[in-house]
Amino acid sequence: MGGRDPNMKILITGSNGLIGSEAVEHFDRQGHEIVGVDNNMRRVFFGPEGDTLWNLERLKRATKLFTHFNVDIRDRAAIDELFRARRFDLIVHCAAQPSHDKAREIPLLDFEVNALGTMNLLEATRQHCRDAVFVFLSTNKVYGDAPNEIPVKELATRYDYARPEEFEGVDETCRIDRTLHSLFGASKAAADLAAQEYGRYFEMKVGIFRGGCLTGPSHSGVELHGFLSYLVKVTLTGGNYSVFGHKGKQVRDNIHSYDVVRAIEEFTANPRPGEVYNLGGGRENSISILEAIDRIGQLTGRRLDWRYVDESRKGDHICYISNLRKFRQHYPGWKITRDLTSILEEMIAAHQAHPAAR
Ligand SMILES: NC(=O)c1ccc[n+]([C@@H]2O[C@H](COP(=O)([O-])OP(=O)(O)OC[C@H]3O[C@@H](n4cnc5c(N)ncnc54)[C@H](O)[C@@H]3O)[C@@H](O)[C@H]2O)c1
Repeated sequence: MGGRDPNMKILITGSNGLIGSEAVEHFDRQGHEIVGVDNNMRRVFFGPEGDTLWNLERLKRATKLFTHFNVDIRDRAAIDELFRARRFDLIVHCAAQPSHDKAREIPLLDFEVNALGTMNLLEATRQHCRDAVFVFLSTNKVYGDAPNEIPVKELATRYDYARPEEFEGVDETCRIDRTLHSLFGASKAAADLAAQEYGRYFEMKVGIFRGGCLTGPSHSGVELHGFLSYLVKVTLTGGNYSVFGHKGKQVRDNIHSYDVVRAIEEFTANPRPGEVYNLGGGRENSISILEAIDRIGQLTGRRLDWRYVDESRKGDHICYISNLRKFRQHYPGWKITRDLTSILEEMIAAHQAHPAAR
């Protein structure tokens, strides 16, 4: 791996989750020593459907040098102890309350996990292993609804950007204040800014990735988080799906968890302190809800039972495509390896193989 030690000690928070578990498997395959931290809080946020223990059990079977700790990232003393006992070379911070809509029911918990939890990890890194690379998974919700100010045109099945200058999507110059974020967007923005400061002010090797829709087969998809995963699940299990507002023409760009982890790996090999990158599937992997329903129907041979609710989610993006130019320029070795069809086929196969697990 580029300039990094071939045998790293890696801390991965949120290791039972979509991105965390992909990172555990990826780095374990390369022979690194992995410490995973996850307290299954996704179940607390979303109930039994959000339970991630199936994924932890899967990881334990699939890995060689992975140790899991049932630690809460809000617990500063426990985090400090973890760092005191080990010298990490890389911290991949994926633990979060990840839902835009959920945050309004649990504002304090959301802030504690997303903002305070991130501070606990950044500061423990500074105290115990300040040369380590620290990667923070942020979100495009730090831009709030500012991306909705970009003029769009309405097409038959989706909205799209009206002007050629936005064709490739939203880049990192989009402003992050004076917009409607949701409390989730605000708690993540607080963490995103703090992480930038550890990079810029303390000159630590911190990188920030602002995710579009991150997806893959290891998502414990629930209605409030994990759009494609939940859509596949409901199509296959025969439940009802609600489409909220924008005529179902709202667009998301989707990136496979593997390509996210590959981006983390590229950054780790050549870190640029305090840099911020938008990371999604880009234009090629963009799809509207109407198009996704149709595509999943074709791939599964099943028709989704869905209804339209004429009220959009507060602050919901009308068309969001991540502009990947900056990351591609800084890390030309990285590319999207999974297109939308292969993402969906893999998810469908995973749901069919283990319907209860997801
Ligand atoms: N999935 C997406 O579409 C998406 C989009 C943009 C950004 N992100 C960001 O990427 C990161 C990873 O997202 P994901 O989709 O893998 O989420 P996920 O919910 O699948 O995984 C997060 C994991 O963190 C764990 N966790 C939560 N609170 C914890 C705590 N206090 N202590 C220890 N563990 C805790 C959960 O149990 C869960 O397993 C998050 O920071 C999220 O905000 C995700």
